[in-house]
Amino acid sequence: MEKIKTIAVLTSGGDAPGMNACIRAITRSAIYEGCRVFGVYRGYEGLMNGEFKEFTSSSVSNTIQRGGTILKTARSKEFMTDEGKKKAFDQLKAHGVDALIVIGGNGSLTGARDFAKIYDIPVIGVPGTIDNDLYGTDLTIGYDTALNTIVDCVDKIRDTATSHDRIFFIEVMGRDAGFLAQNSAIASGAEAAIIPEDQTNVDQLAQFIGRGMRKSKNSSIVLVSESREGGLGGALYYAERVRKEYPQYDVRVTILGHLQRGGTPTASDRILASRLGYAAIEALAEGQRNIMVGVDDDKIVYVPLTRAVKQNKPIDKELINVLSVLSI
Ligand code: F6P
Repeated sequence: MEKIKTIAVLTSGGDAPGMNACIRAITRSAIYEGCRVFGVYRGYEGLMNGEFKEFTSSSVSNTIQRGGTILKTARSKEFMTDEGKKKAFDQLKAHGVDALIVIGGNGSLTGARDFAKIYDIPVIGVPGTIDNDLYGTDLTIGYDTALNTIVDCVDKIRDTATSHDRIFFIEVMGRDAGFLAQNSAIASGAEAAIIPEDQTNVDQLAQFIGRGMRKSKNSSIVLVSESREGGLGGALYYAERVRKEYPQYDVRVTILGHLQRGGTPTASDRILASRLGYAAIEALAEGQRNIMVGVDDDKIVYVPLTRAVKQNKPIDKELINVLSVLSI
């Protein structure tokens, strides 16, 4: 394989804490390997419109601790079209780029997969999303920080829940994945989590109330995934039902929203982002293409982009049992 001399890196989709640590790792690892690096601004939008800037080692100084993404990000409809992809490829060629690295979540890596199918240029995906929903990697950049942010919030809400003897439904992000809801419920000692992966014929609210909610406790916290898959409702839906069906309970809702995406990345996210950024350059040096770098059992793995985005990443059923046993 001909040696790769110039790479471009972009962030796409929802920002995630740790993306900057990853851009830093990619930039410095690439420079170490003797490559030029272009940072591309505003995701695929900037790729199509030629928003390229050459990065040096100092371009990424003092960024490892910063949330968001210094490259900015966007969700692009145009890139989904053939014309959009052609514009992007033309820009890459015009800048002499011979490999592209995309840091992003499911939608962004689906875009990367589709682009790699049409154009003959190595593409490497790096999992960057708070949702943790990419198949083939145990973790995604930003997930740990978001989880910790949620747990901080729930700890605070619990003070009020306890003082007032209330049920709180707290809605968290995750798109159609319940990792954030399930694991923040375990970590905050919540009474239940309502997640799309745990769909049975049993109504999750009735199950929670039926399990003896408030027999021994005067307040409850339920983490609700934002997903509406399979007829699941959000926090407002469940609160409304409690008001109607169990009017004896005092119920409140908190929708955590975008505060879950911001803030300083945790040490774990910075380390993960640094390892994955370094691994992306290693993968290119080894001649890999059209893969996502990930971690499996704390080892770096290469997952074909087609697999990373296509399959639903399962939630370990043990997590569901842990919460259910520990919340009685
Ligand atoms: O994918 C990250 C994420 O935060 C999801 O959890 C959420 O559903 C979505 O992005 C929100 O997107 P936006 O910021 O575009 O409203």
